[in-house]
Amino acid sequence: MVGIRMLEYVASCQDRPNVLMDYANIVPIMRELWSPIAAVTSSWRGRDNAQIAVAIGGASIVPDQPRVAVQIYKRNLSHDMVYGSGAFCLNFLRKDQLQPIHDFGLRSGRDVEKLEPYEYEAGPTGSPLLADCWGYLDCRVVNAMDGGDMTCFLAEVVDGKTVSQGGPLSWRYAKQVIPPEWAGEWERKVEVEVVWSEQRMARIDLGPWSGPSAS
Ligand SMILES: Cc1cc2nc3c(=O)[nH]c(=O)nc-3n(C[C@H](O)[C@H](O)[C@H](O)COP(=O)(O)O)c2cc1C
Repeated sequence: MVGIRMLEYVASCQDRPNVLMDYANIVPIMRELWSPIAAVTSSWRGRDNAQIAVAIGGASIVPDQPRVAVQIYKRNLSHDMVYGSGAFCLNFLRKDQLQPIHDFGLRSGRDVEKLEPYEYEAGPTGSPLLADCWGYLDCRVVNAMDGGDMTCFLAEVVDGKTVSQGGPLSWRYAKQVIPPEWAGEWERKVEVEVVWSEQRMARIDLGPWSGPSAS
């Protein structure tokens, strides 16, 4: 069956004739779209992990059935863990919590046990809840959409609360106060990620998400 179940759709946007604007003109708008910084934790096949994310948005109009949409890059170990487990927890960092940006956002769980120095417990979905954060949303995936280089996960919030005083940490603020060597590490990482994404973002799988795999 061709059409919506087609397994791999390669978009014909190589020279992108439909893109009219100069990217510099939309930078001020695009940078307003980042959410507060969250440590996205997951647990799958006996491993716990955490990554940083700012591509998070509310995705439900019904107050007592809250949902979120979260974009996770396929290169990340967390991607496979969220995809496989069908769950994650968004641990929003407090304004004074800079260290997790380095520990979770500049390193991969493929190379290091990132959560080892952190205090946490398993939440209702099995995902780690950090003892120290501003607040958390424990989430179960209800659907997943392939974006080529990333997957957009739609998830229901099953538990959550604020756990400390103070406000959430924004990337705009954090960029001004993190050590310069972290900023350098981040720039080098982004350069590699952009090349990787460029090669994959048109290769979108239109097949449906088949639900979590056996853990
Ligand atoms: C400020 C900041 C924001 C980030 N936002 C996202 C994001 O929204 N989605 C994503 O998949 N990765 C994001 N990352 C990158 C991941 O956190 C990073 O690639 C991490 O090393 C992946 O770890 P893992 O391989 O253990 O899953 C961000 C990193 C930083 C520092």
